[in-house]
Amino acid sequence: MLRSLLSSGLLVNGVARTTSSHSFSLLFNGVARSPGHSLYFSSESSSQSLSKSPDDVEQQNFTTLSIDRSGLHNPTDHSHMPSSDSELVKHLKSLIKFGGGPISVAKYMEEVLTNPNAGFYINRDVFGSGGDFVTSPEVSQMFGEMVGVWTMCLWEQMGQPKKFNLIELGPGRGTLLADLLRGTSKFQKFTKSLRLHLVECSPTLQKLQQSTLKCMDEDVAGCNDGKRTVSALSGAPVSWHVDLEQVPLGLPSIIIAHEFYDALPVHQFQKTPRGWCEKLIDVEEEESTAGFRFVLSPQPTTASVLHLVKRCKWAPKEELANLEHIEVCPKAMELTHAMAKRIGSDGGGALIIDYGHNRIISDSLQAIRKHKFVNILDGPGTADLSAYVDFPLVRHSAEEASENVSVYGPISQSKFLGALGINFRVEALLENCTDEQAESLRTGYWRLVGDGEAPFWEGPFELTPFGMGSRYQAMAIVNKKQGVPISFET
Ligand SMILES: C[S@@+](CC[C@H](N)C(=O)[O-])C[C@H]1O[C@@H](n2cnc3c(N)ncnc32)[C@H](O)[C@@H]1O
Repeated sequence: MLRSLLSSGLLVNGVARTTSSHSFSLLFNGVARSPGHSLYFSSESSSQSLSKSPDDVEQQNFTTLSIDRSGLHNPTDHSHMPSSDSELVKHLKSLIKFGGGPISVAKYMEEVLTNPNAGFYINRDVFGSGGDFVTSPEVSQMFGEMVGVWTMCLWEQMGQPKKFNLIELGPGRGTLLADLLRGTSKFQKFTKSLRLHLVECSPTLQKLQQSTLKCMDEDVAGCNDGKRTVSALSGAPVSWHVDLEQVPLGLPSIIIAHEFYDALPVHQFQKTPRGWCEKLIDVEEEESTAGFRFVLSPQPTTASVLHLVKRCKWAPKEELANLEHIEVCPKAMELTHAMAKRIGSDGGGALIIDYGHNRIISDSLQAIRKHKFVNILDGPGTADLSAYVDFPLVRHSAEEASENVSVYGPISQSKFLGALGINFRVEALLENCTDEQAESLRTGYWRLVGDGEAPFWEGPFELTPFGMGSRYQAMAIVNKKQGVPISFET
């Protein structure tokens, strides 16, 4: 199948997508969502809530106590001052003030990214040069095309089912799926079997995905309201869901998660003389400055008892010995569990591509606004938050959920794309393109599979393309009946 896809020239029929290589090289210099550093603050949690003010105490005990007021001062009255807090900042503050004190980093991350009213992803397009960051499908059409080759090969290994769910988690602008559908459109048996399911929490991005996939309504007898939505790129029916659980079970599934896991909320823990404490987020003491600060939990939290303990059981002792900080992502455990159960019972597989490590993650949470790293606590909702993916956690969660699945990888993105024939694809595209497209193809290729600065670059230094081929990793979870997925053979 791979040979026929690459050598038959069917993939080559698509024209090279035009992208401005200059804008991408600018954007990709160092801030392509893979953490460089993260800002870190910590302090002991000291606040104790007083149920009575000093004045109340004096009122009740005036006959027996004399109060020394020399150390007290009247707090400034800010009630008359206009608040410049955003809706999300107000919401976070009220969660902290009225919901039982400092919140976990995971709760903060969840609210900042996906709060239904004001979360980072909810109301705008955050991708590309006008947005906050660029992802691989936006860099080059070859990325979605290669994922398409992987998908078709797995579908072959599954015995070419007449119907299967192709599920994408967090499709962004829908670019990966559009390139996958264009690249495979000549394989009618495959395209006829597709049932597309997009798992997306952002209504704005759902609309953008509809437009990228050229969706239209079609009359169908037997459907609930007599209509269904199909993509004009392949004729496949498309539906949207806010989480994976909403996608109906019962058909074999291929699940794609590109840069989805890194957006799932992580808990952060810090080693202290009194053991592992959870890092929490509190309102700054001088409340008028509207800021937030990190504090440490005074005692074990639910997350430390449940999730940290579980993650540490999966780690070798020597790995844990030198760690001062640990990040744990329970949502990644839950999601992988659900994926593995589905694949174990219905057949199929999942492909996860993201930045991460094949070890426990220490301290990777980062914030990016307009292509620059910023403080995690600065302007919540106006910057993307993401963390490195803990691939062993994904592996253990999948193996724990179903004995019918096997887990492969992680392998580097360059190895993954190389095994799928991206070098043949770029050569084929270069044969039939303009000079501008050729430059875009070469720099896009380097960004996907290269490592560090492009050695061939002759343009301005500040625009040097930066390769991410070893920073990004690929992992596959497949039903054991399917055998080893392509690219993951040893
Ligand atoms: C970093 S973007 C990646 C987009 C796309 N996969 C790409 O590579 O261009 C994360 C995507 O996941 C979506 N997302 C983030 N958290 C989500 C959640 N909890 N549930 C559903 N979608 C989510 C975002 O709206 C966005 O589409």
